[in-house]
Amino acid sequence: MGKLNRLGIITGGGDCPGLNAVIRAVAKSAIDIYDAQVIGIEDGFEGFVEGRMRELTEKDVSGILSLGGTILGTSNKGDPFHYPEEGLDGEISIVDESTRVIRHYRRWGLDALIAIGGDGTMHISQKLSEMGINIIGVPKTIDNDLEATDLTFGFDSALYVATEAIDRLHTTASSHHRVMVCEVMGRYAGWIALEAGLAGGADIILIPEIPFSWESIYKKVKNRSLRGKRFSIICVAEGATPRDGEMVVKEVDERRTDAKRLGGIAELIGANITRDTGLETRVTVLGHLQRGGSPTPFDRNLSTKFGYKACQLAAEKQFGRMVALKGTQIESVLIKDAISKQKLVPFDCQQVLAARGVGTSFGDD
Ligand code: F6P
Repeated sequence: MGKLNRLGIITGGGDCPGLNAVIRAVAKSAIDIYDAQVIGIEDGFEGFVEGRMRELTEKDVSGILSLGGTILGTSNKGDPFHYPEEGLDGEISIVDESTRVIRHYRRWGLDALIAIGGDGTMHISQKLSEMGINIIGVPKTIDNDLEATDLTFGFDSALYVATEAIDRLHTTASSHHRVMVCEVMGRYAGWIALEAGLAGGADIILIPEIPFSWESIYKKVKNRSLRGKRFSIICVAEGATPRDGEMVVKEVDERRTDAKRLGGIAELIGANITRDTGLETRVTVLGHLQRGGSPTPFDRNLSTKFGYKACQLAAEKQFGRMVALKGTQIESVLIKDAISKQKLVPFDCQQVLAARGVGTSFGDD
């Protein structure tokens, strides 16, 4: 069964539904099964560098299973190896503060740390693990772009929001005979756009893995209009890129774990369709609606199973590993395998083939 005395827990990177469900599962198992103390680190790695934490009791984690966000707070600007520090002149310089993390970990007497996060958090976790911190990873992200797990928690909840939005856009699009462009998140991976587009019956799905041609989009919406289908729905991933163009970047901020903030492709698509086809177009950007609110039942259960398994791995001293969903089973993999590459949409995966099979365009024909 193993042993645990003092277990740390941290949520890193962007939030998503299911974080609190993992915190609850980790804390309840650690307290109930191992009689351990649980130390919650505040505001992600930023709080770790600054030495901010508090003890989590059973009372702190009760009633949070269905609550969105994270009771611990999080940040996507606190990479300890790439830490932004403001000088007296207001200038930001990037420094390595990883030794402060190690110092706090030792001072707090932790025997292991559960790090809940996506790609950025797992990269940081691997480096900290090589420096001697006993880390177990839990894969979170609405983007679903982590290798070595079939799914990350948070993805299903984002998918639910995006699909519902497309359903709602359908009715207003058909009433007004418009082209509706809906931009979803996902960073460099098209999972949300692909699965929400498929579930919502989008006419065009645009994802970063399949660069699109403007002509192909125009042809599709015009053909639909000529065939009497007087509206079209386009579901576009924020990272989707035209064959002859660049990814649309909203902001570059060196303090972020990933400096680039994507967004804006839907506006460009909407404007170009109106200009080149004369069809009336409206644009909806779902943004952080996909990250807020309650986790779906699937995500609550996945998060709970992940949290329980992570606690077991910590007690068994299986450090440097990340919990992972493989088929229907919760297993564990090396964190370094999970970050070996980004999990992108294969162009011949079943979802892409099925979408093409029912007449959906990916803007490449
Ligand atoms: O990684 C999750 C995610 O929501 C991406 O889909 C998106 O590109 C990014 O985070 C947005 O980050 P922020 O919350 O900093 O705007």
